[in-house]
Amino acid sequence: MKYSIKTGAVTELNSDAIVCDATTASKIAKQADQADLYAAALADFKNKPGQTLLVHLPEPTKINRLLVVGGLDTNLSKTEFRNCVQAAATRLHGLPIMQAIWTCHQAKVKGADLAWKCSNALAAVAQKFYTFGEHKTKSVPKPSTLANLVLVGDARSRSALMQLAKRAVALEEGLQFARDLGNQPPNVCHPTYLHAEAKRLASAAKVKVSALDEKRMTSLGMGAFMSVSQGSDQPGKMIIIEYNGGPASKKPVVLVGKGITFDTGGISLKPGAGMDEMKFDMCGAASVLGATKAAIEAKLPINLVCIVAAAENMPSGDASRPGDIVTTMSGQTVEILNTDAEGRLVLCDALTYAKKFDPEVVVDVATLTGAVIVALGSKASAVYSNDDRFASELIEAGEYSGDRAWQMPLWDEYQPQLKSNFADMANIGGREAGSITAACFLARYTEEMTWAHMDVAGTAFKGGGAKGATGRPVGLLFRFLCERAARKAAPKRRAKKA
Ligand code: BES
Ligand code: MN
Ligand code: ZN
Repeated sequence: MKYSIKTGAVTELNSDAIVCDATTASKIAKQADQADLYAAALADFKNKPGQTLLVHLPEPTKINRLLVVGGLDTNLSKTEFRNCVQAAATRLHGLPIMQAIWTCHQAKVKGADLAWKCSNALAAVAQKFYTFGEHKTKSVPKPSTLANLVLVGDARSRSALMQLAKRAVALEEGLQFARDLGNQPPNVCHPTYLHAEAKRLASAAKVKVSALDEKRMTSLGMGAFMSVSQGSDQPGKMIIIEYNGGPASKKPVVLVGKGITFDTGGISLKPGAGMDEMKFDMCGAASVLGATKAAIEAKLPINLVCIVAAAENMPSGDASRPGDIVTTMSGQTVEILNTDAEGRLVLCDALTYAKKFDPEVVVDVATLTGAVIVALGSKASAVYSNDDRFASELIEAGEYSGDRAWQMPLWDEYQPQLKSNFADMANIGGREAGSITAACFLARYTEEMTWAHMDVAGTAFKGGGAKGATGRPVGLLFRFLCERAARKAAPKRRAKKA
């Protein structure tokens, strides 16, 4: 989608359609001498969030269609506003038009500024207009014809809107990248494919992409990663993207993603029903790749390292067994009591490797546990951190972008659940608090860093009829990176570390 900015009175603009509130629509109708037609159309319309009404204005007229968005001229909460723009985006999607004007600058949304309103509106459009038809030969859903969306604001906000539109495009591309990677079937999307896709990012300035192969990882002592990867005929990869958009003196933000391109469970084999959804077990990786792509596209003035731990978890003669003990890159040993708890095994070595970049902060993102779905469902991603301020920073970024997250406890009280009789720790913590004990496992590899872990098993993809990757938490991560970039531009306002 192309976005452009117009300032001035909406009644003066030409367009195939205008997305606006009922008050504005009535003004435009009056201007076009169609007040009666509009009044008649309005008869059964409820001016509430979630409702829309489409009114055609007969030619000749500057604006051909009024897409009236219910509730947009009333006082709204942020959630209500998101309902409004989602409904508008849905209605817009079906229209055979090339261009539309989108107005939401007058909306009164509690605690929201113009930037928030516009970026959330554009995010709703991007979400709605995404399709993945690559592997369909028939009945491919017709892509929408809409190509240009015009944002309206006042003259003062013009430059702010321009930056916002640029960032919206960057975010849209990052989200699309993440969703496409997630939706690819597991026979296409294996670790080598992820590496090839990552390499495409290197065509931009200031970007370097490399990968560790299995031989290199073995020599680095990544015994935990290798114990997962060794069961698959697909070679595992540790993919590294370095983006140096900031001053050389600045420490990088490091993002780490779980990239299990298919999780059978290994020898601790999963039940068959719904196993296809384990192609989404690389969605953590997809999200850090998507956020990295967005940061590169937006030319954010930050230093960023993205590490993807890519492997396939298969049962085979070479697969690790329950009871195997492996030595991680950190030197700590792990008794593998369940080969299906493989995410933490690839991540612990990736997190140890991350130290090499002397990170300012590290965030790992993983579809790590079924337990987090029991705890939080599909609405919030779980955040764990060894620094509460850092956790709040991520949660705030999620609130802003509508990609919400919630902090969970990372208390030492849970650590004894990881006790092993034979090694430094077990890779599972028993039936209780499964998402927390998984985070506790990772915490043992990140002690010297400011680190957060996001368990996105409930949010990164949908099952059932709407099966597909959501792109979450790209929205949260991109907002977090934008805020870090702003912080760097104004070093005086930098918050002290708690
Ligand atoms: N990839 C799964 C977690 C998962 C489950 C993601 C459902 C998305 C939807 C992970 O590797 C896994 O199998 N976790 C086990 C851990 C257990 C063996 C301690 C789980 O959650 O059952
Ligand atoms: Mn598993
Ligand atoms: Zn998994």
